[in-house]
Amino acid sequence: RVINNRMDQDVLPPHVLIFPLPLQGPVNSMFKLAELLCLSGLHVTFLVTDNIHTRLLKYSDIQSRFDSYPGFRLETISDGLPEDHPRSGDRLMEMFDSLKTKNKTLFHDLLTSGKLSSDSRRPVSCIIADGIMGYTCDVANDVGIPIIFVRTISACCLWVFFCLPKLIESGELPFAGNELDTPIKSIPGMEGFFRRRDLPFFCRSGNLSDPNLKLYLPESTENPRAHGLILNTFDDLEGPILSQIRTFCPNLYTIGPLHSHLKYKLTGESSSSVPSTNSMWKEDMSCITWLDSQPPKSVLYVSFGSLAVMTKEQYMEFWHGLVNSGSRFLWVVRPDSVTSDSTTIPPELTKGTEERGYIIGWAPQEEVLAHGAVGGFLTHSGWNSTLESLIEGVPMICWPYFLDQQVNSRFVEEVWKLGLDMKDTCSRVIIEKTVRDLMQDRRDEFRKSADQMAKFAKQCLMEGGSSYSNLERLIKDIKSM
Ligand code: UDX
Repeated sequence: RVINNRMDQDVLPPHVLIFPLPLQGPVNSMFKLAELLCLSGLHVTFLVTDNIHTRLLKYSDIQSRFDSYPGFRLETISDGLPEDHPRSGDRLMEMFDSLKTKNKTLFHDLLTSGKLSSDSRRPVSCIIADGIMGYTCDVANDVGIPIIFVRTISACCLWVFFCLPKLIESGELPFAGNELDTPIKSIPGMEGFFRRRDLPFFCRSGNLSDPNLKLYLPESTENPRAHGLILNTFDDLEGPILSQIRTFCPNLYTIGPLHSHLKYKLTGESSSSVPSTNSMWKEDMSCITWLDSQPPKSVLYVSFGSLAVMTKEQYMEFWHGLVNSGSRFLWVVRPDSVTSDSTTIPPELTKGTEERGYIIGWAPQEEVLAHGAVGGFLTHSGWNSTLESLIEGVPMICWPYFLDQQVNSRFVEEVWKLGLDMKDTCSRVIIEKTVRDLMQDRRDEFRKSADQMAKFAKQCLMEGGSSYSNLERLIKDIKSM
């Protein structure tokens, strides 16, 4: 019987445990990865924190989507924080601390509990975890399971993180938020166009004991510890930077843009409409009906992702700028995104909104960006948003908030020529001018480069393309573990 069981287990597919960083962006892209692996016949356990699980159950339809994958299972674990902790804004760092200390033990216990396997499910044969949770590698080594890291940020930002020790060594860090146009010289591949202001925001603190800096400083030693590194990008977009990262992590799997890769595998088209299933806010679908009634490429979509917050003053500058630009706009104002008790639109602005604008609390963003009425995206330059815009050929105005976003927005304007970087400014006059530039005056120039980049992105997903081939290699490697 024991022998038979073992033989039965041997014919079962390999079992992958996927553990994303518990934030909307990373959960989004790792869900796509989970689906891609399920489609290839692997068994996948998707491990989310209790907090993420509650929100997914409330707002998304994940279970019904995964019912179509017999190999999929959802599992939960605590992040170690009390239920009512905000896990955002200036208290986000507490979540990282809690994961490293409290979750590490729980993760170890889960892997050794036997809970993840059954007669129809092998023990976990490979762990795929977010590389920012370096402690998962210690646990994996301890229990003897191979681990592959995933980074859901851009390669260009990851490379900046890898170079942080060099920046300190050369004396380019720290600086106290001043002379922001000073060029940065010690990041190979970014000489000539990269400035202090394009570094991740926390670099401006002037303080080497800044908790964010401490979190990202070990990246160049932490990431190479895993068997390989999966990146949500594609070779035609970030080739030169990927070559730099390979000097630290030779085994790279660039398989992005993940959301389109999945659509392509499901439908044969990279921008077809496959509803998103993992939203953590209630999507307001009425915006699609509103978009249906707008002229082609006339609407600027405005959204700052799941974490960015702005002051009431900044919110009002955006308001005036958008309305004065004369452009149509669809604006996502997340209920927790303005640091004030009220986001009520002053009466003098209501008219401008009604004529050309539409405001909602949370959008079906991929569908919005794929809609023919959308001609531009005012974004915080989160990596998912950037890729979702890029694949649809939608030019961007960037207003980065934190983390990788300052780096992404520089690349959007200066390297990829996909739009305009508005970082460090928030005045109605500049917003109005930038919107006019993107939507009218320089429209053709940006559309041309956005169309070209969208074409490259789609090609890499087709048979023989770089992301297609790298996913095949990843699946083959997992099967051989
Ligand atoms: C965070 C970081 O901010 C980002 O820089 C990093 O790259 C990933 O983690 P977030 O700020 O949420 O993520 O930005 P982003 O990466 O753009 O992810 C937001 C996701 O939410 C996107 O997939 C987007 O489609 C979705 N979204 C956003 C919606 O579905 N509806 C909305 O109204 C807004």
